[in-house]
Parts: sequence; C-alpha cells; structure tokens
Amino acid sequence: MFTAAITGTGVFTPSQIITNAELVEAFNAYADRINGERADDIAAGTFEPLQHSSEDFIFKASGIEQRYVMDKAGVLNPDIMYPQLRQRDDGEPGIMAEMALDAAKKALAQAGRTAQDIDLVICAASNLERAYPAIAIEVQQLLGIKGFAFDMNVACSSATFGIQAAVDMIRTGSIRAALVVNPEICSGHLEWRDRDCHFIFGDVATATVLERAEAAKGDHFEVLSSSCATEFSNNIRNNNGYLRRSRPDGVEDRRDMQFMQNGRKVFKEVLPMVSQHIADHMRKEDIDSSELKRLWLHQANKSMNDFIGKKALGRRPAPDEQPNILQDYANTSSAGSIIAFSKHSDDMAEGDLGLICSFGAGYSVGSVILRRHRT
Ligand code: COA
Repeated sequence: MFTAAITGTGVFTPSQIITNAELVEAFNAYADRINGERADDIAAGTFEPLQHSSEDFIFKASGIEQRYVMDKAGVLNPDIMYPQLRQRDDGEPGIMAEMALDAAKKALAQAGRTAQDIDLVICAASNLERAYPAIAIEVQQLLGIKGFAFDMNVACSSATFGIQAAVDMIRTGSIRAALVVNPEICSGHLEWRDRDCHFIFGDVATATVLERAEAAKGDHFEVLSSSCATEFSNNIRNNNGYLRRSRPDGVEDRRDMQFMQNGRKVFKEVLPMVSQHIADHMRKEDIDSSELKRLWLHQANKSMNDFIGKKALGRRPAPDEQPNILQDYANTSSAGSIIAFSKHSDDMAEGDLGLICSFGAGYSVGSVILRRHRT
C-alpha cells in the first residue's frame, strides 16, 4: 500500500463581485415590481406581497459580505434575476471545464507536476452543466492527461468524497496521481428571487493534486485517513433533472427547480451529524482534539462553523485555527473547504495535523485528516 498526499491546490476566482448592498438593492427592486404587478391580487388577499431583503439580516444570519459570480448583470437585473452566460459551441471548452482548467493549472504548478504525471481526473461538483460527456473527461483532454476521468456529485460534500476516491486508488496503486476539480457555478441553481436564500451562494472553482507521498516534490500534506457518510434528507433539494419535460408542469418556471432548503432544520440536523462525524473520525485515528492545529470547514454559515469548530477542538477556535472564507466567497458548495485549505495552510509546521470537513445536501459529510510535511 502507498501513502497518499495532497501536493497542490488551486483556486479560480471569478472577476465579478456582488456585495450585499448591490444584492439587496436588486432584490428590493424586483419585489417592488412584482408587488406593483400583483397589486390587485394583494388587495384581494390572494397574493402575499414580497418583503424586502436586508443587508443587516444577511450578515447577521450568515456572515456573508459578498460573493463572486460568473455573470453579475443578469443576477442584478430585476427583470432577469439569473446569470446570463454566453452560448458556447460544442467545439469550444464548456464554462465549467474552463473554470476547472484555471484552478487545475495552479494546483499542478504548486505540486511541480505536469499532465504526464496524472492518471485520473475527477470532476466533483454539486451541479454538472450537461448530462454527458463528463466534464472531467473534457478537463482531461484540455490538459492532455492520459488515463481516465469521471464526474461525481455529492452536493456540498463532493470535494471530500472525490478526495477519498482518489486517495483509495493511490493507496492501492491503481493510479500514481489524481487531479480532483470542483467547478461550482452556484449562481445557476440559486433562486435569486427568494429573499430567504438569495444571499447564500457564489461561484468559484478549486483543484487538488493528490499523489504518492513518497513521490512528492516539495512541501505536502500526507492523508492520514478519510471518512464519508450520508443520510437521506429532503431538507436541501433541487428537483431539476433530465425527466423534467416528461412530467406535467415540468417545464414551468417552478420554485422547486432551483435550490430549496429548510434552513432551520438543516441547521438543527446537520450540526450534530457533522460534530459526531468529526469526533468519531478523530477517535478512530486516535487523535485528540488538542493535537488538531487547523480545521478547514465547509463554508455555508459562520455560526454553523463557530459551533462545529468549538465542538471539534473542545475550545473556542482562534481565527487562524478555523479560517473562514465565506465572508468573501459566500457558500461555494463543494469548493468552500478547499478554498479555506488552499489559502490558509502554507504556514503550518512539520508534523502539524489538520482536518478538512465538508457537509451538505444528501445529507452528506466527508472529512480528511492531514499531516503537514515540509522539505
Ligand atoms: N432579509 C430580511 N429578512 C429575512 C431575509 C432577508 N433576506 N430572509 C429571511 N428573512 C426573515 C424570515 O422571513 C424570518 O422572518 P419571520 O421570523 O418573520 O418568519 C426571519 O428573517 C428569520 O428567518 P430564518 O430563515 O429563520 O433565518 P435563520 O436565522 O435560520 O437564517 C439561514 C437563515 C439560511 C442563513 C440559516 O438557516 C442557515 O444558514 N441554515 C443552514 C444553511 C446551510 O448550511 N445550508 C446548506 C446549503 S448547502
């Protein structure tokens, strides 16, 4: 058996930012327009007027201050309220592959690797822009990687589940090295017309290079172990899918064809699930919370992370022990914990232990325990 290690990560950050102030202004203009159009229904009591959103609420409820998106104009246009992306020809790279490619090149450069060193590409993301061919195979082709590639989707936990799949193949020797990419265009499945959730998501892509620790060219993180778990829940759900047109009303502009969640229930049910998962994983590896130097958590909500951080470490985490990036990026689904890891891990000392944990729809939770090695 080989030992697996993370030797490089990369982040692609879109160039356009939406602040909470811009978001709220657009939403409120949309709400005013709809309320104006439905004035008679509102007077007749058959339509509940849409209420305004608030910057103050968004920051207090989530900790989010802004988000990056692939198209700001469409999202902020009160007559549109979704991203408008350029129509691409089948002969040119798709938008998800293009975002993944940027992150992948950065991860490969950090690992000191080229396409020739990689045997597997996994595209692990919560949404895939088409049914087939796989985005991962497109990324493989664009980079000139031999071997094989596949897509997988475990919603917000996709990255850690992808890492576990790659690690297991590296351990057994079926591959030498893997590239796991997480292109997330969350603006495409977010319902920007719903004030309960319009602030939640942002767009990004991350990439992780994993290979045999013995072959690592520089500083790296040895993967001590990984652990994944799932439990079915309808509390985070999106009904969009390939059978849409075959169902009555399937192609209507239906609320359930975008991201839906019962936020309060998610909070109540996911927190104990994740806290227990991390505790069990650490116990299995005989690691005490006092030994853990860093937690790179899924980035959905600040109070959620504060709670999990305190449970996992047995103390209130110092800001550098449990770095958050959600204030800048919002929830970027599977990519969140990898952005936190990529931006806040360089300073760790030889032998330091850290844990990546992602969680979300499914429900799903995945954790990866890492040990720092410096050359
Ligand atoms: N502006 C102003 N008020 C708003 C608002 C907005 N944008 N959105 C909701 N509100 C109102 C609600 O209508 C509600 O009013 P009411 O008390 O009169 O009914 C009140 O604010 C509280 O709303 P609620 O949804 O209960 O807030 P919350 O404190 O639970 O925070 C979330 C909402 C979504 C931030 C929070 O539940 C959460 O983060 N849950 C987990 C999310 C998660 O991890 N999801 C995983 C996705 S992958």
